[in-house]
Amino acid sequence: MIIKIFKNDEFASRAAADIIIAQINGKPNSVLGLPTGGTPVKTYQTLINACNEGRVSFKNVKTFNLDEYIGLHPTHEQSYRNFMNTNLFNHIDIVMENTHLPSEENAANYDEMINAAGGLDLQVLGIGGNGHIAFNEPGGAFDSLTHKQAIAEATIRDNARFFDGDIDKVPKFAVTLGIKGIMNARKIILLAFGKGKTQAIYDTVRGQVTTNVPSSILQLHPNCTLLIDEAAAGML
Ligand code: PGA
Repeated sequence: MIIKIFKNDEFASRAAADIIIAQINGKPNSVLGLPTGGTPVKTYQTLINACNEGRVSFKNVKTFNLDEYIGLHPTHEQSYRNFMNTNLFNHIDIVMENTHLPSEENAANYDEMINAAGGLDLQVLGIGGNGHIAFNEPGGAFDSLTHKQAIAEATIRDNARFFDGDIDKVPKFAVTLGIKGIMNARKIILLAFGKGKTQAIYDTVRGQVTTNVPSSILQLHPNCTLLIDEAAAGML
């Protein structure tokens, strides 16, 4: 694991965008795995600017998102489809048909769809305060493929901020790429910012590889870089 610590999320997000841009410029038909959440927003803004300035083109890029809530219509403000359209896809030159999110309908085929596209060249990850990656919550198997997942209580509480602070409005299930699908990516970058991620980053880097901390499996990935701010690195 390579660990890069930045003064703040601005610098880390710029570094993440630079890695994504270099990936696409090196291989214009790259297959990207993408996250939602608060963490990647600045990275996506940087990508939008780079695309508008002609420094990168997504014309031949395919994307596969990590996860999606069950029970929210794609047009729902908090659906991950809507998040991706609003925060990235609507503002870049990507072909919408080349953007994919998992769903109850395609879950059984999602890993096959990724393989058919050539496999993930670069997987971008956030991390939950409990060490989850995508919606792979503590205790889940390391050999999982795309599956329906009950969202952990801690994650529901974390995400309530996007639902007027009301945990009852947060969906209780999601479809998520499995740990195995994530580990199959040729390269992974994980972003983590702020004090809420300090323990999870410590456990990811220094802890045992255990299903209790899903992100700890990344210690075994051959090409994984953590881009984190000083607060998230606080216990390293
Ligand atoms: P966040 O979520 O980026 O909103 O902190 C990350 C995650 O839960 O994976």
